[in-house]
Amino acid sequence: VRTPGAGLKLRVEVPPHHVRSYEVVVRAGALDDLVSRVMLAAPADRYALIAPDDIVSLHAERVLGMLRRGGLDAELLPFPAGEKHKTRETWAALTDRMLELRFGRDTAVVALGGGVAGDLAGFVAATYMRGIAVVQVPTTLLAMIDAALGGKTGLDTGAGKNLVGAFHPPRLVIADPLLLGTLPPVELRSGLAEAVKHGAIMDAGYFEWIGAHAPAILGLDPAALEQLVARSVQLKAAVVMEDPYEHGRRVVLNFGHTIAHALELQDDYRLPHGHAVAMGMVAEAAAGEAYGVTEPGTRERLVETLRRCELPAAPVVGSWDALASTMRLDKKARRARPRLTLLERIGACARDPGGRWTFEVPENMLAAAVRLAAQDGPAV
Ligand SMILES: NC(=O)c1ccc[n+]([C@@H]2O[C@H](COP(=O)([O-])OP(=O)(O)OC[C@H]3O[C@@H](n4cnc5c(N)ncnc54)[C@H](O)[C@@H]3O)[C@@H](O)[C@H]2O)c1
Ligand SMILES: [Zn+2]
Repeated sequence: VRTPGAGLKLRVEVPPHHVRSYEVVVRAGALDDLVSRVMLAAPADRYALIAPDDIVSLHAERVLGMLRRGGLDAELLPFPAGEKHKTRETWAALTDRMLELRFGRDTAVVALGGGVAGDLAGFVAATYMRGIAVVQVPTTLLAMIDAALGGKTGLDTGAGKNLVGAFHPPRLVIADPLLLGTLPPVELRSGLAEAVKHGAIMDAGYFEWIGAHAPAILGLDPAALEQLVARSVQLKAAVVMEDPYEHGRRVVLNFGHTIAHALELQDDYRLPHGHAVAMGMVAEAAAGEAYGVTEPGTRERLVETLRRCELPAAPVVGSWDALASTMRLDKKARRARPRLTLLERIGACARDPGGRWTFEVPENMLAAAVRLAAQDGPAV
């Protein structure tokens, strides 16, 4: 008999999520083996193919046909395309539809589309019946090299973007650059900004390669796109593997984004994300040079490469005060002071003496840096 009042204390051991690994396939034409790969990586009774309505006739019907011809029980669940539908309302409509169709626990979600589809369908999978498998089939450059990889899923709310979500790694990612052929040019360039970011923070050779091959990439050359997606995926995967839950080094992927988020918010999200990131990287490089941790000339190299990618380099700043107050609301801010990822030089991020990957740049220095960056010429 236990002494009353002694209570109980035990530790529940649960295996960490990231023990499970997943394959990322990057190849022009990779979609052709979709069915066999899905059957291996995410075997299920039924499949819910979730895709935005604007790619239903472009891609989703073909993918649905492939799944069905392969003998899989699949249904297409379209949702209204666009960031403004990455909401709990769309999540509720999709999960209600799945319940209506009597999808059980032995269902897998196939997320087909851009980052919005990946985040939304990923969150549906994270929550449906407490979590079912998801396969990510990204169809935008941004989704292929960024959103589909890393396991973050989520939704926007009135209070801000991506504030409700879950880590829910996919079982498989299939990135087929041939799908990018139908992408509006502005979306292609927008995704390219994240690739430039990958080079800037981790791989100077890749950074140079992007600048040299920008015409082929923008011209949708399949070999160039495949090489681009493959290298970016390798770089992002390395960071995600080292820090799956963003406790440390993963924050380097935020380079350019503190200022980008403020620019986007200030512009009411009309500015394409990649354009904001391009401008943000230039401004943050200027801030790093002013702060003394970034090699002089880094900002100029960024500007040159971004121009080759037909991306804007100069931030359009209305009022610095407004931009600064938006930045204080950034989720990476500590005690309302924004913290920035800074480059040491092209190809490497800087660490502070305490080993941290972010820096608190004094606001007057940041203001001067943004103004300097804004002189880099008119936005494209
Ligand atoms: N989870 C993450 O780690 C992560 C990382 C970065 C970004 N994101 C999220 O990704 C989202 C942005 O993703 P996005 O830039 O791909 O935007 P998006 O998903 O809105 O796609 C842009 C538009 O292109 C359409 N489209 C997609 N593929 C197409 C194709 N092949 N041909 C023609 N049209 C196509 C889409 O339906 C949409 O209308 C944001 O919500 C962002 O928060 C998530
Ligand atoms: Zn981004």
